[in-house]
Amino acid sequence: MAVIETFDKVQAVIDEINGSEPKTAADLEQFRIQYLGSKNVIKSLFGLIKEVPNEQKREFGQLVNKAKNTAEAKFEVLKTALESAADEAQAADIDLSAPGEPQALGSRHPLTTTMNRIIRIFERIGFVVEEGPEIEDDWHNFTAMNTPEDHPARDMQDTFYLLNNTEMLLRTHTSSVQARTMTSQKPPIRIIAPGRVYRNETISARSHAQFHQVEGLYIDENVSFADMKQTLLYFAKEMYGPDKEIRLRPSYFPFTEPSAEMDVYWGLETETDYRITKGTGWLEILGCGMVDPNVLENCGIDSEKYTGFAFGMGIERQAMLLYDVGDIRLFFENDVRFLKQFKSAF
Ligand code: DAH
Repeated sequence: MAVIETFDKVQAVIDEINGSEPKTAADLEQFRIQYLGSKNVIKSLFGLIKEVPNEQKREFGQLVNKAKNTAEAKFEVLKTALESAADEAQAADIDLSAPGEPQALGSRHPLTTTMNRIIRIFERIGFVVEEGPEIEDDWHNFTAMNTPEDHPARDMQDTFYLLNNTEMLLRTHTSSVQARTMTSQKPPIRIIAPGRVYRNETISARSHAQFHQVEGLYIDENVSFADMKQTLLYFAKEMYGPDKEIRLRPSYFPFTEPSAEMDVYWGLETETDYRITKGTGWLEILGCGMVDPNVLENCGIDSEKYTGFAFGMGIERQAMLLYDVGDIRLFFENDVRFLKQFKSAF
């Protein structure tokens, strides 16, 4: 091939590049493969350099480089032009008069709603909220609550102890807040203590290793069992309806004497009533009792002068009743499809 022809060939490619006008993304891709791809035309032009006399090799190399630079620059220009054309087309598609996209509002977790509802009911009769730590020491959780080490009643609550310090544990009940309050405040004490508690339980539809409780404590002079019963009756009516009845069954808790469990009359009309009340119509809601004098003394309160009552209830159970939820695990999975069913003003 004559030298002139070789140079012409390169120039022809440059002209071709300058003249090409890809209109679509597919055209542009064709352009890229042809001039910038791994087997592009310009690479083959570099191969022609061996046919060029030595004194012209430099000039030839520069021309081929020019072809390469032209292709690169043209590609960038074309790419930008195609992109902005696409943006414009999209912008033209936007209908400014169309209604906005709705933003879904979140809602409170059903356990929070239930907890708040319980708190409100007690706040109305003068109880104030107290909180305590979830990682608690042995003394507040057990010993102060009249359950010293090796006391068999500790078996009632299977506990998570901290590996590096067995004096510390995940509190098994909110009753630990009773001890914290009695050691830091003087009677009259009228508190409600909501919060999360932990037990080493097998997780199933009915029980979980973490759950929530609300504790109540009232200490003053001359507080009686009748005061407790009346307070709890008021709670049951506010929570479940004015026609609700309660009953107290004798029970045992280390920190109260006497102790009781409270049932609410749920009814026996539907099949569900039968199932959840095990055919009795009564539903167990909470444990309660008169604060054991040992507990008062452990916490530095004169048990000759003061008496009091305490109670503790599980929140999941109440939420399951209120919202007809059949599996406790749903509360902890945070599945939005479950959670968004609970819209509430609380
Ligand atoms: N702490 C008890 C539990 O978790 C519940 C309880 C029962 C709390 C009786 C009380 C009470 O304050 O008086 O099983």
